[in-house]
Amino acid sequence: MSQPLVGIIMGSQSDLNVMSEAAEILEELKVPFELTIVSAHRTPKRMVNYAEKARSNGLKVIIAGAGGAAHLPGMVASMTSLPVIGVPVKSSNSIDGWDSILSILQMPAGVPVATVALNGAKNAGILAAQIVGSFNKEVAKTLDNYKNSLKMKVEESAKKIETQGWKGKIIGFKN
Ligand code: RP5
Repeated sequence: MSQPLVGIIMGSQSDLNVMSEAAEILEELKVPFELTIVSAHRTPKRMVNYAEKARSNGLKVIIAGAGGAAHLPGMVASMTSLPVIGVPVKSSNSIDGWDSILSILQMPAGVPVATVALNGAKNAGILAAQIVGSFNKEVAKTLDNYKNSLKMKVEESAKKIETQGWKGKIIGFKN
């Protein structure tokens, strides 16, 4: 893979189940990325080093996922001017997911984190690709095709339901 443009980081290996969805969609959209574990609480110096070197390492955007007292996205955003997308993870130690969401969402003015839905790593990957696509024509084209495929899927489903009826079409639908 060529020079990574997106950095995917997460607080723990236990976040990988969720965060792998960001990696999968970036692979599908052909956006080069790197993926590793950086814990705000257990490896604070590694976090500082990652955030401070992200731009000079060639990254254009960072996706950071964490659960519970989810400080990683906000702390990374405080140390870089690259855009940071935060993924609130509903981890086993999370109360109900709101702890992760609010820890990532409620950033003070001046230090934004673009927060996606709970466990919304796939959208984080798509948003990161869109940021890259704002200056990279090839990625923009791949995204246009991807969005078009979503449109076609919905139109196909609508057509099937309209012509064949809704019965037996409830289970197994996934975008
Ligand atoms: C957070 O604590 C991590 O992001 C993870 O979501 C959660 C639990 O971590 P582990 O105890 O499973 O390593 O820092």
